[in-house]
Amino acid sequence: MTYVDTAAGYGNESGVGRAVVASGLPREDVFVTTKLWNADQGYESAPAACDSSLQKLGPDYIDLYLIHFPAPTRLAYTDTWRALEKLYREGLIRAIGVSNFKFPFLDRLLRTTEIVPAVHQIEVHPTYQQAELDQLSRDHGIVVEAYSPLGRAADLAEPQIGAIAEAHGVTPAQVISAGTCRLAGSLFRSLLRPSGSQTISTWPDSFSAMMKWLRSLASSVAFAPAKMSRPSTEQRVPNKE
Ligand SMILES: NC(=O)c1ccc[n+]([C@@H]2O[C@H](COP(=O)([O-])OP(=O)(O)OC[C@H]3O[C@@H](n4cnc5c(N)ncnc54)[C@H](OP(=O)(O)O)[C@@H]3O)[C@@H](O)[C@H]2O)c1
Repeated sequence: MTYVDTAAGYGNESGVGRAVVASGLPREDVFVTTKLWNADQGYESAPAACDSSLQKLGPDYIDLYLIHFPAPTRLAYTDTWRALEKLYREGLIRAIGVSNFKFPFLDRLLRTTEIVPAVHQIEVHPTYQQAELDQLSRDHGIVVEAYSPLGRAADLAEPQIGAIAEAHGVTPAQVISAGTCRLAGSLFRSLLRPSGSQTISTWPDSFSAMMKWLRSLASSVAFAPAKMSRPSTEQRVPNKE
């Protein structure tokens, strides 16, 4: 399975769509995530935004469609979610989820809408664990997908990560990736039950617990460096096509 993460806000959906076709891979062997941009939030506007993403990525379906940010000042994320629920029921999207929802926004979404997000894509790495948010997501069976898993490279310089890496003859990136691999596995399992009833295994709630967990993981994981390709660089400034 090849995983591709794009977003309307990145301005690269057309290129991603062309790359998926050019790869020659069967569509079912590629998992495509894209995200709805803030300006397209709302019950009326979200379907048009989804249609635009579908046209750019390839018309058949989107594997996972996320609300990119809650954008709370727009007061529209619950209406947007209801539109995504409808698109999901119509089968144009295989799974729906959210990204960057802080605790109160995710909590409100869960209390006021019907379908539980399959995935919550948030920044998670050893020095920024968002434990409460992670717990809320897991309590509802939402798969937490870690972005910036290396802390934008800063966590690679953490002495404790370095010590684990040295002890096991691997790189700091491999030590951290060993943790995120488990999350990726959970994500793909969620494909089987896209309304989101997966629970990932325990995510330690303190830095020292994380280090202990990584240490045990590092000793049990068979590293496969060739499979650990570097992620594309995040486009931080929205650049709509
Ligand atoms: N949903 C959202 O709002 C959101 C926000 C941010 C990011 N994301 C997603 O998260 C993913 C990655 O995030 P990110 O780029 O911010 O952070 P990251 O993966 O934590 O860090 C990227 C940095 O790590 C370095 N790096 C990557 N692999 C390495 C390795 N094996 N050894 C040493 N250094 C390595 C890169 O170096 P180089 O610069 O040399 O390549 C780059 O400086 C992307 O797919 C992105 O789309 C989503």
